[in-house]
Amino acid sequence: MEDAPIRPPLIRIREAAQHDGRSVRVQGWVHNRTDKGRLQFLMLRDGSGLLQAVGFQKDLDEAAFEILTTLTQESAVELTGSLRADARAPGGFELGIQGIELVSLAEPDYPIQPKEHGTGFLMEQRHLWIRAPRQAAILRIRASIVKAIRDWLDSHDFVNVDTPILTPSACEGTSTLFATDYFGEPAFLSQSGQLYNEATIAALGRTYCFGPTFRAEKSKTRRHLTEFWMVEPEMAFADLEDVMAVEEQFLSYIVQTVLAEHRQLLVDVLERDVTRLEAIQAPFPRLSYDEAVERLRAGDFPDFPWGEDFGAPHETFLAEQFDRPVFVYHYPSAAKAFYMETVEGRPEVCRSVDLLAPEGYGEIVGGGQRTTRTELLEQRFVEHGLNRADYEWYLDLRRYGAVPHAGFGLGLERTVAWICGLGHVRETTAFPRMLEKMYP
Ligand code: 4AD
Ligand code: MG
Repeated sequence: MEDAPIRPPLIRIREAAQHDGRSVRVQGWVHNRTDKGRLQFLMLRDGSGLLQAVGFQKDLDEAAFEILTTLTQESAVELTGSLRADARAPGGFELGIQGIELVSLAEPDYPIQPKEHGTGFLMEQRHLWIRAPRQAAILRIRASIVKAIRDWLDSHDFVNVDTPILTPSACEGTSTLFATDYFGEPAFLSQSGQLYNEATIAALGRTYCFGPTFRAEKSKTRRHLTEFWMVEPEMAFADLEDVMAVEEQFLSYIVQTVLAEHRQLLVDVLERDVTRLEAIQAPFPRLSYDEAVERLRAGDFPDFPWGEDFGAPHETFLAEQFDRPVFVYHYPSAAKAFYMETVEGRPEVCRSVDLLAPEGYGEIVGGGQRTTRTELLEQRFVEHGLNRADYEWYLDLRRYGAVPHAGFGLGLERTVAWICGLGHVRETTAFPRMLEKMYP
């Protein structure tokens, strides 16, 4: 029997160090090419890293060298060659090209050139822009944040329950609902899975949902998307204190895990100041809303009226006073959602808590203790213009075995923006949805 020809192993660029001095094959895209006549330099990108490859005319047959000299940016190739350590090359290795197979030749007018482009243009080219190492690094870190979120909750007795995206009613106010037609009846894209997990905790104790949520936000800011992902843990037999204790452990784990797994991407690709992230360790400081208002008035906002929700400048001012995220609890009841439990003896404030991230990233988590009182809910339905009949099932949860319960929602995109040190949430997801932005 004749032996099949032995082909060098196909490797991922990330694994180059394990194959030093050996022949390998790599598949990828031409990130760029430098033409030095008899010498052609390629920067090859395969999604796991970048690899410098060099082709000498004298080492290659005529057809192979011809392919090499005509390669355009983003052409796809399979290279065969020998790997050698080279401290000057990105990643520390260089491939000496011995063979090339053209998978596809890219048209010569790739829209994104190695120069500065405006963000408006890049957003229109988002399907191509994500190939840029910086954008790819953000998506990789996002995936690792998602995994850290799930790992922490799964190992702390929270059961993942998927809540519906098509819903009959509002959770977070009627002004940001996306309506759709459900066989002749109105339906809304979910703003939050919270109300449903207030039901599932009576079956499972501690649950969480993690998925896309929707808000018809009219605001055009660097923190708002119309479609974003939220993870929402909910706990039976728990109060506002429990929420804060869980949040600070949970968030510290997420940040420290990303630092351990992706320090190099954060430092080299995203140029993130990681000393700011190293400081993120429980416990986090706590301020009541009243104390926060005092601080605002003593500082940049002497006329801040008690009762108003904080805007981005207020959140930034407060967060700047600490080196880690700060809890603000007991907000005015009127500034928060209908389901909040009030504080005993002070019905004008509620058992809510927002977590404000450092460095101007603002509120990344919102949560609190849910009321178990039917009378309060009925009053809130009227005040918030909600149709009681839509919430009959929710009232059942108060009728049959109500217990103190609490939970929170962490916004994934704002968390990614903060950890990666980005100026805008639009770069935290592959295809962002924003006011006036649905393409591609
Ligand atoms: O404060 P929110 O509205 O709280 C809730 O939806 C609760 N039902 C959560 C709960 O207790 N289970 O939203 C929670 C978080 C915010 O802190 C923010 O990080 C994020 O969701 N968020 C947004 N992120 C991007 N774009 C938007 N338009 C966002 N709205 C909220
Ligand atoms: Mg909120």
